[in-house]
Amino acid sequence: MGRIAYVNGRFVRHADAAVHIEDRGYQFSDGVYEVWAVFGGKLVDSIGHFARLKRSLGELSIAEPMSEGALRIVLAETVRRNRVREGLIYLQVTRGVAPRDHPFPDPAPAPALVITAKSVDPRAAEQRAERGAAVITMPENRWGRCDIKTIGLLPNVLAKQAAREAGAVEAWFVDDLGLITEGASSNAWIVDQSGALRTRNIQANILRGVTRASLLKLASDLGLQLEERPFTPDEAKGAREAFITGAGTLVLPIVRIDNAKVGNGVPGPVAKRLRRLYIDGARREAD
Ligand SMILES: Cc1ncc(COP(=O)(O)O)c(C=O)c1O
Repeated sequence: MGRIAYVNGRFVRHADAAVHIEDRGYQFSDGVYEVWAVFGGKLVDSIGHFARLKRSLGELSIAEPMSEGALRIVLAETVRRNRVREGLIYLQVTRGVAPRDHPFPDPAPAPALVITAKSVDPRAAEQRAERGAAVITMPENRWGRCDIKTIGLLPNVLAKQAAREAGAVEAWFVDDLGLITEGASSNAWIVDQSGALRTRNIQANILRGVTRASLLKLASDLGLQLEERPFTPDEAKGAREAFITGAGTLVLPIVRIDNAKVGNGVPGPVAKRLRRLYIDGARREAD
């Protein structure tokens, strides 16, 4: 069975799915997106992702394409039609279709909604986590509203390509203060030399990761020492452990930053434990 996409009210074959050439997402990146991990055919951290979608839309004055209840039904149906048990579901909302002109169209067109789903191989993901992954660092060059999950991702695309060319899975952006903000598609964490778990505070110009929020709660329930405060690339290279979080990677240990080994170059015990506990909890609570 081939893949099925949801496009503006209809389920269509993925290969035939298309949007209008004057969709403002295509013309201006005038839209937002969300990604949920899918475990056992159900959405992981669903509430947090719906809340962030609503907020992203609100910040850009784009209308909600449908109620959360209706969206849940469409998402579940997209998962079902694509027979996804373990995977990812991607949702994109743009301001809609209008003749190309920068200001918001008046009257506002109906927002355009596209949803796709794909399976991932959980064993391959687990093997990668067991090996650990590499990141590179590069200067922050994104706009000032990284708290909005906009589809305008060109700096992230370039950063990921540079990472791939360097044999890394992720690029960590370093701001003008010399502090790591986050990855191109994940939040950045370390376990510092005092044993504290550190990740950038959400007042900084970062995406408020839903996985990040869940992991903070989990770590606090475990009684780990938590500090939402920035760190430099040198601190990260000298840390006991490093890892990234996101709907795509869940909790992924980082064992190399640029050309430096983190710790002794293998995934650390805190990252491994948090990955296991996060996945177990997410699987139990997926809905
Ligand atoms: C720039 C950026 N930061 C962080 C994240 C992690 O967010 P979440 O945990 O909600 O997937 C993402 C996810 O796509 C991202 O694109």
